[in-house]
Amino acid sequence: ALHPVILSGGSGTRLWPLSRASKPKQFLPLTSDLTLFQETLRRLEGLETLAAPVIVSNEAHRFFVLEQLDEIGIRQATVLIEPEGRNTAPAIAAAALAVQRADPEGLILVLPSDHAIGDSAAFRAVVRQGIPAAEAGWLVTFGITPTAPETGYGYIRRGGALPESPGCHTVQAFLEKPSRSRAEALIEAGDCDWNAGIFLMSAALYLRELEMYQPQMLDACRRAVAGAQPDLGFLRLEAAAFLEAPAISIDYAVMEKTRHAAVIPCCMDWSDLGSFTALWAHDAASSAPVEQGRGYQQDSRNTYVRSSGPLVAALGVQDLAVIATDDAVLVAGKEHLQDVGGLVRALEAAG
Ligand code: GDD
Ligand code: MG
Repeated sequence: ALHPVILSGGSGTRLWPLSRASKPKQFLPLTSDLTLFQETLRRLEGLETLAAPVIVSNEAHRFFVLEQLDEIGIRQATVLIEPEGRNTAPAIAAAALAVQRADPEGLILVLPSDHAIGDSAAFRAVVRQGIPAAEAGWLVTFGITPTAPETGYGYIRRGGALPESPGCHTVQAFLEKPSRSRAEALIEAGDCDWNAGIFLMSAALYLRELEMYQPQMLDACRRAVAGAQPDLGFLRLEAAAFLEAPAISIDYAVMEKTRHAAVIPCCMDWSDLGSFTALWAHDAASSAPVEQGRGYQQDSRNTYVRSSGPLVAALGVQDLAVIATDDAVLVAGKEHLQDVGGLVRALEAAG
């Protein structure tokens, strides 16, 4: 069966003040009436042999998870709780171990909970396309055509086509978060895609790769899952063991090293909504414009106004973003929207 693994541990500070440590972006309705977390689950409906999802989250947000699952009628799910985030490789390891206990042959479909995908049907189609390759022992990634030399993504250099899996290529190199100049060179080369951050593979293969490249991490996660305690609707990982796992993302821990990576280049109108630049572009391109709340602008150019709090009106300004909530307002120059995370850290430091 196909087991969705939803990663829901990030904080998304670059969307402050919409996204807060207390309520990160995946739990907000940013692109529709549903939250990004709920959209992630809804998008799966229609896939064949779909098992109940495994959600990996943390203490602080665990009730958002239960509440939001309930709102969309999902009654069966495994909710793993990390004592503290150790990045994605250990989170996926814990999920893979939980899946493998019940379904040794199971495939996992690892999904970030905070992305927007405009074309759900295309998403399901590429997942279906990847299943035979995953069953044949590939770690399947999904490639997005790059539009700019972004440094926040993984870059995948396509190798030859896999004859037995149409649309699927081997991966010649996987480069996580390259420098600016490296990213420019990779785009120039023309044979690279961005990593969408979605992975499809057998739980057993992922664990075998960890055994090879991160044996200590695998051992810590094994003990954390073996000692996990059920509590209400949650399964709490054994804290001391889990915290021994080094905090490394799957991209560095496995994808850069493995010899079994494959990629399916695809078009599904993907955005990781990683900053207001991305959210702005998403809203602007949206055929059914999302409720931008009480934001209004007149005689302004290149300006993004979004408010879930007071009525905000902009007049005669340009190259500006104004984002308001009930208790905080961000006013930022268009060119500075990538730096909001740094601003949030400075605000926290200032108390
Ligand atoms: N449970 C859990 N625990 N989830 C986590 C943790 C953790 O410790 N850390 C991150 N996540 C979740 C985030 O909430 C997000 O949904 C997903 O895992 C990916 O983590 P990010 O921290 O957002 O990764 P990234 O954006 O820097 O990079 C990844 O995604 C890019 C595409 O958006 C990489 O896979 C890149 O290669 C990729 O291009
Ligand atoms: Mg991300």
